[in-house]
This record gives sequence, C-alpha cells and structure tokens, in this order.
Amino acid sequence: MTPPFEVKLAVGAEMVEAELRRLLDTRPLEGEIARPVRLLEAMRHGVLNGGKRLRPFLVLESAALFDASGEAALRVAAALECVHCYSLVHDDLPAMDDDDLRRGQPTVHRAFDEATAILAGDGLLTYAFDIIGDAQTALPAEARLALMTRLARAAGIGGMAGGQALDLQAEGQSLAEDDILRLQAMKTGALIRYACEAGAIIGGAAEADRERLGEFGAAIGLAFQLADDLLDLTASSEAMGKATGKDAAAGKATLAGLHGIDWTRRQLRGLVAQAEDILEPYGEGAEGLRQAARFVAERQS
Ligand code: IPE
Ligand code: IPE
Ligand code: MG
Ligand code: MG
Ligand code: MG
Repeated sequence: MTPPFEVKLAVGAEMVEAELRRLLDTRPLEGEIARPVRLLEAMRHGVLNGGKRLRPFLVLESAALFDASGEAALRVAAALECVHCYSLVHDDLPAMDDDDLRRGQPTVHRAFDEATAILAGDGLLTYAFDIIGDAQTALPAEARLALMTRLARAAGIGGMAGGQALDLQAEGQSLAEDDILRLQAMKTGALIRYACEAGAIIGGAAEADRERLGEFGAAIGLAFQLADDLLDLTASSEAMGKATGKDAAAGKATLAGLHGIDWTRRQLRGLVAQAEDILEPYGEGAEGLRQAARFVAERQS
C-alpha cells in the first residue's frame, strides 16, 4: 500500500533537516576562516524554521526513480533548499515584498536586521554550490558539474532572480497571460524544475529521462505558483504562516488575479493531469511524484 503523501513528505523533510542542521554547524569547514555567530544564526533562522521541504522531496523522489545514491541526493536536496530559503529571505525584504511573517515566524530581517538578512541570503546561495561541489557529494565530477551549472541557470538571471525582477517590474502593470506564465516559470518554476531534473542527473539517467523529468517539473512548478497565488486570495495567514491577501493590494501580476479563482482551479486540475501523463512510462515507481503533483495543486498551506 502506498503511504499517504503527507507521511512521505514528513519523512523526507526530517532527513533533509538533519542534513541542513549538520551543514549549518558552528564549526568552519576547511578553507573557511570563521563562521560569524550572528550571520550563522540568521542563516539557521531562515532555513531551520519548518517549511514543507517540497523541493528536496522532489530531488529525493526523482533520484530514487533512477536508483541513485540516497546520500548524494540528500546533499543536493539540502543545497537546493538553501537556494530556496535564500530566495524567501530576500523575497521578504522591505525592498521586495516587505513581509514580517514567514513559516509562522518573524522574517529574517525582522528577527535580525536587514543587512544581516541580505548577507544570510548571500551565505545560503553560495553555500549551495559548495555543498554540491564538495567531494562529500559522492558523484562523478561530471555529474556535480552538471548539477552546479543547472542550478546556477535555474537560480540566476534567466531563472529565479530574473523572474523576481520581472515580478517587481510588473507591479501595478497589466500583463498578458504569456508574460505572466514566463515570469512564473522563472521565479518559481525554474527551481522546481531543477529539483526534478537533478534526480535524473544524480541517477545518471539518459538525456530523454532528464528532459521528461524537466517537463514534469515545469508543469508542477507552474501549478505551484498558481496555487500560491490562489491561496493568497483564499487562505488565512495562520494556515499559510505568511501574510495573505497581499498580491492584489501590491498590484502583483498573477493568473488568479487575471482570470479568477474558478479558472485557476480548473487550470490546476489540467496541470496535474498533464504532469501525471508525463510520468506514464515510469509506472508504480513514480507514484511519489504523482502524489506530489496532486499535493501541489490541492495544498491548503
Ligand atoms: C513559497 O514556497 C514561495 C513560492 C515559490 C511561492 P513554499 O510554499 O515551498 O515555501 P516553504 O518552503 O514551504 O515555506
Ligand atoms: C516568491 O513568490 C517566489 C520566490 C522566488 C521566493 P511570492 O512572493 O508569491 O512568494 P510568497 O507568497 O512570499 O511565499
Ligand atoms: Mg515575491
Ligand atoms: Mg513574497
Ligand atoms: Mg505568494
């Protein structure tokens, strides 16, 4: 019997949190001079504060599909979560979305200060590449290189950071659907897509499989931001652990804002069906990923 998705997600989250805790230890690594306490505490605050750990789950599940080493996958999953958490720390800054609450706790710039939050983000982003590049991520050098290059592209100018820039630029503008789709594919889709492709790279899968996993990731990445925008309209701040009802007020370009709640729900169902179809060739082994697709669309927090 397939365990409920929430149980699987929680098991993965626990493993990833333990890994992140180890990685964000006070002891400097070889080549580091010192780890300033306040900065490290801010990084820990931004990372070890709950979070669904969905992206790490996708790395672990897609790696398992190709019988990859669990330990290497865990390190790549933790690295990706560092990039995601950095993106949240910076997304919440006063100059960006100006939010006080994240994962039910004060945002990093509220708990510490703005400069420390900026540096905590810098530290987390850089650390992600250290984690993947380090020989402890026991994969062939070529695989580590591919994982690093792809992560850079997913997180950088043509990915998450670029998408965040478009998101800010679009405030108060009326964007066409295609422009919103591109913005969302970049700001949210790229890291989720990476999570799924990474598993295939870790497992040394064929190019066709890597592409297929990438397509799956793109579909659920889009669904993820659609659901996030829907929840901004419909869910409480308590349920989400972050402010809601803000996108419309800030003039954010969202598809839920453009087409409404019912259209967005229909779109989400379509994307889940599409994502499930993409996984067709993998049979039962991909059940965890299928469950993840449904969770992304149906989640309430
Ligand atoms: C929130 O991501 C930011 C978006 C991309 C919409 P998550 O909803 O995955 O946040 P956590 O990690 O669970 O807090
Ligand atoms: C943020 O999108 C996506 C990121 C790259 C962090 P949002 O601004 O909608 O995310 P939330 O709603 O603050 O989590
Ligand atoms: Mg934002
Ligand atoms: Mg935000
Ligand atoms: Mg949002």
